[in-house]
Amino acid sequence: MENSYNKLLERAYIGKLGVKNRFVMAPMGIGIDVMSGCIEEKDVEYYAERARGGTGMLNLGFQIVTNKTDPFTMSRYGIGTPLQEMGWTRLCDRVHGYGTAVMVQLSCGLGRNAMMVPGVQNVSSSENACFFDPSSMTRPLTAEEIHAIVQAFGAAAAACKRAGVDAIEIHGHVGYLLDQFMTPLWNKREDEYGAQTFENKMRFVTEIYQACRAAVGSDYPIAFRMVIEHGIAGGRTREESAEIIRYLDHLGIDAFDVDWGCYDAYEWVFPTCYMPDGCLMDISAAYAKSITKKPVMVAGAFTPETAKQAVEEGKADFIVIGRGLLADPEFAGKLQEGRREDIRPCIKCNRFCLSASGTARDSSCSVNPAVLKETIYGRIAKAKKSRKVVVVGGGVGGMEAARVAAMKGHEVIVYEKTDKLGGQLLAASVPVFKGRLAMLVDYYKVQLDKLGVKVEYGKEITADSEELKDAYKIIVATGAHGFVPPIKGVNGTKVLEVIDAHTGDQARIGTKVIVAGGGPSGCDCAIELAMEGKEVTIVEMLDKLYPTGTLDNRFSVLRRIQEEKITVMTGTKVKEFNDKGAIVESKDGEKTLEADTIIVAMGTRPNSEVAEKILDKYVCAQTIGDCRVIGQVGEAVHQGFYAGWCIE
Ligand SMILES: Cc1cc2nc3c(=O)[nH]c(=O)nc-3n(C[C@H](O)[C@H](O)[C@H](O)COP(=O)(O)O)c2cc1C
Repeated sequence: MENSYNKLLERAYIGKLGVKNRFVMAPMGIGIDVMSGCIEEKDVEYYAERARGGTGMLNLGFQIVTNKTDPFTMSRYGIGTPLQEMGWTRLCDRVHGYGTAVMVQLSCGLGRNAMMVPGVQNVSSSENACFFDPSSMTRPLTAEEIHAIVQAFGAAAAACKRAGVDAIEIHGHVGYLLDQFMTPLWNKREDEYGAQTFENKMRFVTEIYQACRAAVGSDYPIAFRMVIEHGIAGGRTREESAEIIRYLDHLGIDAFDVDWGCYDAYEWVFPTCYMPDGCLMDISAAYAKSITKKPVMVAGAFTPETAKQAVEEGKADFIVIGRGLLADPEFAGKLQEGRREDIRPCIKCNRFCLSASGTARDSSCSVNPAVLKETIYGRIAKAKKSRKVVVVGGGVGGMEAARVAAMKGHEVIVYEKTDKLGGQLLAASVPVFKGRLAMLVDYYKVQLDKLGVKVEYGKEITADSEELKDAYKIIVATGAHGFVPPIKGVNGTKVLEVIDAHTGDQARIGTKVIVAGGGPSGCDCAIELAMEGKEVTIVEMLDKLYPTGTLDNRFSVLRRIQEEKITVMTGTKVKEFNDKGAIVESKDGEKTLEADTIIVAMGTRPNSEVAEKILDKYVCAQTIGDCRVIGQVGEAVHQGFYAGWCIE
């Protein structure tokens, strides 16, 4: 069948391993209970869902070969015991049932990148400052420990092959333990594993490769994951990478999985919305392709369009999709079926996947609550009886509730008081770097349309509305409104609320702008205006900018703020808005900041008034999203999902 994504969907090879298409699920260290190393039913289903969804090969991500040395791995078990191997076999059998290949990434740990464990010293190639606590130094691995790790790699590789795994990948990237040996910046050893010569710097990797190769035989694919550049002073240069790739190619590595960055240049490792789609295809993949004829795999926030571009222009052989496959396990299958418009986009927020670690929340996905809960929520079965469901509010939470309720076979009607679906995302998606939010709104519009959900625009519902009377279930998703504090002069002509600044009143924004409020929406607005060439100052009352943001996105936001030359005043309070601009106060006293426009980005408040009245009147009503508790996209989607799913 003619399909404009054909090049992505054709069979491709790693060594002798034929993979049914060019999509590889990125290694992501979630999904297998690392604490026991045992594969449970939910893990099998999580991977099976991605195989069923048409992915060519799944890379199961970070499996440790030994828990004896690196503190990060000490409370964990990797691949190795007979019980664990039984799980691996079950997983492989199931995934193979869909014609999908399985790759396992083998790792010896994080080294200086490991989170601190009280009372335990992190390890590395030599003495290095730990990433998460630079006042703590790592200790160098002893030669005995190195030899034990090499042996453990061999044993793990053999176990993979026995279990039916089709290929392995050596985890050598983004400044983790193995990379700390390959990089003179971190490797100051003076023994035969030191970085004085190329041979010594590559000795640990070489021995690991040889142990794996001896365990799996000459025909079994072994890939290597590495960064082309670390993106920091003293880190690897592309010329050094070229030498490493040539060497490993000659040694026998069958494929290169290339990326960019390290923890000190974090946003390249888990690209945020501030990074372009397919951000690694030129700087990593195309470069590696110019050095080796072996297959090159690359990740980095790919859309179907950027993936197509990468393979059609010969920049990569395999497209590695991580968060995109959390967001939509059928990424590849939908392209195969010519249903591009049905792919639910990853919004690059990093909130429910990466930042869940260390919180009370399971790893999941902001836009796909079924991640790792596929056994329960993976398939949405029809309810026994079709019911009338009314959704009040067509923001992201309301749209998700409507989508899921309609999939359950209910008759769903959405009342939206404006003339558009999308709610606050319409404003939030205006900055060019927030394009994925616009894609999410488009996705919902298509789904509601395909599912026959009726949407009535321009309809404001109250507790007395006739429209609610015969509903079996009422889902109230009336969202939130911008909070404008009672500061003197707030109604002045120079003052704009941030949502209005995005959606209606852009023409009123002058060249010199104060953004009052340095949270996520204030920072985004400031970056957007600075990109348009405006002179922007952020005034934030707290001592820290972006105080509620996650670590992963904060890094990107701060870099962008610096690059765009935005002035930042933290620990500074706005006291008054006036004709000149604003009077602000900090520990140094009061001063006037001149501005043409002041944008107030001081948070939002729930639209709870009508919602509460509906709840009072109807026992079948419930609230979701911001009108209940202010949250972000993920909270609204999850609440919408469960509200829709629970209608029997
Ligand atoms: C939750 C999560 C866990 C990850 N774990 C690993 C891992 O175990 N090994 C690895 O090499 N990369 C890991 N990564 C990085 C991904 O493999 C991938 O390079 C990155 O997410 C960029 O691809 P994407 O934009 O398609 O998500 C992880 C990423 C995420 C989001």
